[in-house]
Amino acid sequence: MGFKDKLKEQLKSELSEEELSLLPGGFQTLGKVVILKLNPNLLEKKEIIGKACLDMFPKIKSIYINKGKIVGTYREPEKIEFIAGENNPIVEHKEHDVTYRFNITKIMFSKGNINERKFLTTLIQSGEIVVDMFAGIGYFSLPIAKHSSVEKIYSIEVNPESYKFLVENIKINHLEDKIVPINGDCKVEVIKLSESGIRANRVIMGVFPAPKEYITEALSLVNNNGTVFHYEGVAEKDKYIVLFNEFNEIAQKEGYNCELKSHRIVKSYGPNLYHIVLDIFIFKI
Ligand SMILES: C[S@@+](CC[C@H](N)C(=O)[O-])C[C@H]1O[C@@H](n2cnc3c(N)ncnc32)[C@H](O)[C@@H]1O
Repeated sequence: MGFKDKLKEQLKSELSEEELSLLPGGFQTLGKVVILKLNPNLLEKKEIIGKACLDMFPKIKSIYINKGKIVGTYREPEKIEFIAGENNPIVEHKEHDVTYRFNITKIMFSKGNINERKFLTTLIQSGEIVVDMFAGIGYFSLPIAKHSSVEKIYSIEVNPESYKFLVENIKINHLEDKIVPINGDCKVEVIKLSESGIRANRVIMGVFPAPKEYITEALSLVNNNGTVFHYEGVAEKDKYIVLFNEFNEIAQKEGYNCELKSHRIVKSYGPNLYHIVLDIFIFKI
């Protein structure tokens, strides 16, 4: 019996047939928290539904509902609301043997990026220097430090709330010798890194919309043997070249050559829209 049918069974004496038909077909689990998306017509019954959900999952401590999208520069959840169990939004979510500790009401965690978080670790060559320009709580930096022979990762995050958890997660996963957390605007921080002589083998630009206004500064990290950039964006399936052309145009103006090594779709992002990553090799002309 699937999730929705079990929930219907639990609630058949408390909700109308109409309301039972509107119950959610799925849920997201982060640590010991379940997050539901509820049809607006069910919001009056949110506590009852939350209690029923809690009874269905003995290991789960709290039920929240997601009432919005991911918004703003900090990519924050618009509205995550507590409905049942323990009102404690701090979770420890385990993925690929990495623990991510964060506050689910203030910080996003995209389960849809799970494959990309794993795949990137497989690209790292021994001794690499990596700069993660939009590090968040360590979405990419933690698994790379844990599962590759990277030399050093400079993880830059501007949101103090996310930065606090980035520092905590580095400790929780015992990765202090691999990751250097930096709290600041990556536009400024990458210049400080390159002026201090640091050059990168790999630069991760993992944010939406595609961070083209950060490319010029990021190019200061390119080393003499060339550097791989992982440049993210949203595009129609066959229009990923638009993202590459915008990158290439800026790099050319700065005196760099770009080779599109590969691209991959991370997840669907809306009607005929996809979260896409480009692997671009860049070297000085
Ligand atoms: C949420 S992450 C993206 C998600 C991540 N790629 C993943 O796989 O789940 C983007 C992060 O970039 C941070 N950010 C946005 N602008 C920034 C900037 N100028 N400098 C540093 N960090 C920035 C946001 O605060 C956010 O934590």
